Amino acid sequence: MNPWTTIPLNDYESHMNLPEIGQAEFLAGTMVAMIQTISPESVAVIGCAGGNGFDQIKECGVEHLIGIDINNDFCDVAFDRYGETFDHLEIMTADFCDESCQFDPVDFLFAGLLFEYVDCETAIKRCSEQVVSGGYFGAVIQLHCETMAEISPSPFTETLGVLSSIMTLVDPQFFEQIACDYGFTVVSNQTVELISGKSFQVFLFQNR
Ligand SMILES: C[S@@+](CC[C@H](N)C(=O)[O-])C[C@H]1O[C@@H](n2cnc3c(N)ncnc32)[C@H](O)[C@@H]1O
Repeated sequence: MNPWTTIPLNDYESHMNLPEIGQAEFLAGTMVAMIQTISPESVAVIGCAGGNGFDQIKECGVEHLIGIDINNDFCDVAFDRYGETFDHLEIMTADFCDESCQFDPVDFLFAGLLFEYVDCETAIKRCSEQVVSGGYFGAVIQLHCETMAEISPSPFTETLGVLSSIMTLVDPQFFEQIACDYGFTVVSNQTVELISGKSFQVFLFQNR
C-alpha cells in the first residue's frame, strides 16, 4: 500500500499551511505564476491533494482542469470543493506512473513535490506523454539540505512520518537531463529558498 493513501488530508494541509513551513502557498503561487505566463486552455495537476491553488487557477480563466491523486479521500475533497467551479473538472484517483492513468494531453501539466515519491524517470516519461506538442510542464522538487530534516518537524509529523519510507530527493541536474531526454526543453530553472530555510528547484519546460 502506498503510504500516501493513509494520510488524512487535514493533517497534510495543516502541515503545509503552517507559516513556518509555507509550502502550500509556495506551490500554489508557483503553479499560478506559470499559468499566468503561459495562458493554457487545459491544465492537469498531478498529485493535486485537496486542490491546493485550484481557486486561483479558476481566477486565471482556465475552465478545463484535471486533478490526479493516488489518495481517493484527497480526490473526493478536491471534487467537493471545486466540482461546481469549473466548466470541465475531472478528478481521478490513480497512480500517475501507471500506464492505465490516461487523459487527453493538456496544454500545461504541473507537478509540485511529486517526484520525491515516485520513480522519477517513469513519472517524467508519463508527463511527456500527457502534454501536447508545444505545451508546457512545470515541476517543483525539494533540494537536499545537510542541516534540515527532509520532512519538517511539526505537530503532524507523527502521521506524515510514514512518507519517509518512500521519500527520495531527486538531483536537479538529473531531473533536467531526464526531462530533456523525453523531449522537453528548459524554459526556466530557478532555486527558491523559503523562510523555513528549505530550498526547491522550480522548472518550466516546453514539449518540443
Ligand atoms: C507533497 S504532496 C504535493 C501536493 C500538492 N501539489 C500541493 O500543492 O499540496 C504529493 C501529492 O502527490 C500524491 N501522490 C503521491 N504519489 C502519487 C502517484 N504515484 N500518483 C498520483 N499522486 C501521487 C500524494 O497523495 C500527494 O497528494
